[in-house]
Amino acid sequence: MTPTARCEGPASWPADAAAAESWAARWDAIMKCYQPAREPMLATTLDALEHLGLTGSVLDLGCGVGSIADRVLDRWPQARVTALDWDPVMLAICRARLGDRVAVVEADLAAPGWSAAVPGPVDAVITCAVLHMLDADRHAELLGDVAGLLRPGGVHVDVDEMPLLPSSPRLAATGSELSAAGVRARFAEGREDVPDWYSAVTADPATAPLLDLRARRFDGRQDGRSAGAGERIVALRAAGFFEAGVLARALDQAVVVALRCPGRQVGTTRSQVVRHVRAEIPAGVARAR
Ligand SMILES: C[S@@+](CC[C@H](N)C(=O)[O-])C[C@H]1O[C@@H](n2cnc3c(N)ncnc32)[C@H](O)[C@@H]1O
Repeated sequence: MTPTARCEGPASWPADAAAAESWAARWDAIMKCYQPAREPMLATTLDALEHLGLTGSVLDLGCGVGSIADRVLDRWPQARVTALDWDPVMLAICRARLGDRVAVVEADLAAPGWSAAVPGPVDAVITCAVLHMLDADRHAELLGDVAGLLRPGGVHVDVDEMPLLPSSPRLAATGSELSAAGVRARFAEGREDVPDWYSAVTADPATAPLLDLRARRFDGRQDGRSAGAGERIVALRAAGFFEAGVLARALDQAVVVALRCPGRQVGTTRSQVVRHVRAEIPAGVARAR
């Protein structure tokens, strides 16, 4: 299967923008069970973009129902926002609620070549609860693609599950276990979880073609491993980001912010990125690596 698909026109499901909003609100409520600090972490994400003056064009990778794109447009209605995902159910909701306020791209982040479908350069790339789904090699390659899509000095913000330091195993386990206990407690109250949400989607016969395509794209895939923040920062530096660090943390969820090297465009291949980093990374940072 090719890594990208042509954007489809309005689907027959969801019926209208109000129905799409309702599906999106249910999805966001599930996300908040997994990310109890989702609102403050996303607020920090947008505050960082504003502080850095990088709000003109934003790419939301693994956009889901468009929750991040929606927040970006709420704050900066003039921003050029691109939302990318590979799940046709998610994309149908995103398109129906946000309409032509976002450019929707249908592409598979797990396959090389996806970035050719995205118009760049952009000021900011946001990923939320996405990168842990990729395997480690693909994750590292994808960061090179992200650097290639950003304008010089642009920013990548990654909000995701990132275990604490492996060098402090009891602390890392404490963070992960407290986080998992919180998730269990929230769902024990009978709240809707991901399988319930998809069951409800399946109950509407109009979703059958979308679900069939989704199964062809995703069946058999497994989530990768959640890389820790330290590992991600090393990978970001190798991919052409000259500053990278944790701006916020809540147990095993964190917000990592990374600035792409200033100067000329990096390019998208690994060798182009490595050449660029060697040429432009500040000497002190290079030594610290
Ligand atoms: C947990 S959801 C998060 C959605 C959104 N970022 C949010 O925070 O609300 C993960 C999203 O990543 C998307 N995704 C997973 N693997 C993908 C891939 N290989 N290519 C593109 N999108 C992918 C899923 O379809 C889903 O919409």
